[in-house]
Amino acid sequence: MERTLLIIKPDAVSRNLIGEIIARVEKARFKIKGMKMVRLKPAEARKFYAVHEGKPFLEELVDFMSSGPVVPVWLEKENAVADLRKLIGATDPKKADPGTVRHDLAVDMGKNSVHGSDSPENAKVEIQFFFPNSEGK
Ligand code: RTP
Ligand code: MG
Repeated sequence: MERTLLIIKPDAVSRNLIGEIIARVEKARFKIKGMKMVRLKPAEARKFYAVHEGKPFLEELVDFMSSGPVVPVWLEKENAVADLRKLIGATDPKKADPGTVRHDLAVDMGKNSVHGSDSPENAKVEIQFFFPNSEGK
């Protein structure tokens, strides 16, 4: 079983889309291993997105991710990382395929409703970030 991390971002939480997104994830046969609602401080959002240090969009991303509550969800499935990225769709909702979360629900490149880990290695780090002390659960 592979692990991955989904985050339902502030724009989706504020538009009452938590249930809609979770329903899509469960229908795609992901198992939910952990889930909570948190409000990230800007320093915490910056730590989470440390891989993007130096990128021009980092400040905007940190501001947005700390602008309201988010719902991190720890998921398991065979091929979880790639399958979640497929379910989510392209970063820019205008380029995302119909039927994907971002195509159907996202607002724009910034307010793109969800995050999905981009590799099994990063998934491990990201799950540990939100769900420490959960090893072997
Ligand atoms: P995420 O990490 O949130 O799942 O998104 P992603 O892998 O599809 O995209 P990534 O390259 O990791 O970028 C993280 C988030 O930063 C914003 N972004 N803006 N203006 C831009 O060129 C730009 N590029 C990225 C997006 O909100 C993206 O989700
Ligand atoms: Mg990413």
